[in-house]
Amino acid sequence: METLLKEIAQRTQEAKLTTKADCENFKRDVLGKNGLIQTAMDAFRDLPGSEKPKWGSELNRLKTEANTLYQTALDNLDSEVKLPWTDITLPSIPLPKGSLHPLTQVESDLTALFNRIGFRVATGPEIEDDWHNFTALNFPENHPARDMQDTFFMKGNPDRLLRTHTSGVQIRTMLSQQPPIRVVAPGRVYRCDNDATHSPVFHQIEGLVIDKDVSFADMKEVLYYFVDQFFGKEFEVRFRPSFFPFTEPSAEMDIGRRKANGEIAWMEILGCGMVDPAVLENCNIDPEEYSGYAFGIGIDRLAMLRYQIPDIRLLYENDVRFSGQF
Ligand code: PHE
Repeated sequence: METLLKEIAQRTQEAKLTTKADCENFKRDVLGKNGLIQTAMDAFRDLPGSEKPKWGSELNRLKTEANTLYQTALDNLDSEVKLPWTDITLPSIPLPKGSLHPLTQVESDLTALFNRIGFRVATGPEIEDDWHNFTALNFPENHPARDMQDTFFMKGNPDRLLRTHTSGVQIRTMLSQQPPIRVVAPGRVYRCDNDATHSPVFHQIEGLVIDKDVSFADMKEVLYYFVDQFFGKEFEVRFRPSFFPFTEPSAEMDIGRRKANGEIAWMEILGCGMVDPAVLENCNIDPEEYSGYAFGIGIDRLAMLRYQIPDIRLLYENDVRFSGQF
């Protein structure tokens, strides 16, 4: 018995199980059904009862040791054999590169352009109240924009609505800042409209300047600069008299390019005007001391012009085949 156990201990200690064949040989010689451990078990069974305790625990310990050695070697070999099948040097599956949505590009170009001439960015909520969106801006009670047909009002609270323009930010800015004020407010606006040139959600960038001795000519200078920078010098600009409750006088501005036959094709891109004294008063600004101008540019319209997009709804369908082109 003693010699047998010594041999098992020695074989286990000296075993170098570096290949599959090493493992198989070890299994056959030591662990197998004709192996050393089984032989020792048989011999153990034939021992007189008084001798059993002496050898039993040692035999068990050797058996566990040999089994662990064999199993560990086998596991290591298994994981090694799998390695060649994972080629970690292969290039990975390419992820599509993202790009900025055309509206985002135009909006950030515009903000950067106005930043260069001293305009800071102002913001306001998209869910606005009646006072900021209409009343403070001098809209009379019966103005059509206040109709359910034109505006998304909140069901539970008719005082809340999805803002129909960014002009409410004029009010919020005048109430929270002292003149001189020089801000642009880009953002989403909403109206009950839906066709190739109108989407129920669209974008505007509002401009507001309040200071002493501000004139219509100051406003034209800034708007000419905007057209030069955004479209290029070859574009013509014209102002047409218009009406907005919150500006007086008011105008709409068109841009156009001369065609080969000498004619100009005009396109309206913004509304503007001198801030109405009533609006200044609503914001606690003295119209005797201060004056100012405001303008509202349609961002979607500019994106459609710049990228020759024929239908505004394409901007909102989230089809990457479309938006990946810009
Ligand atoms: N808020 C106006 C609109 O949405 C545009 C505008 C802004 C006009 C500022 C004048 C001054 O049509």
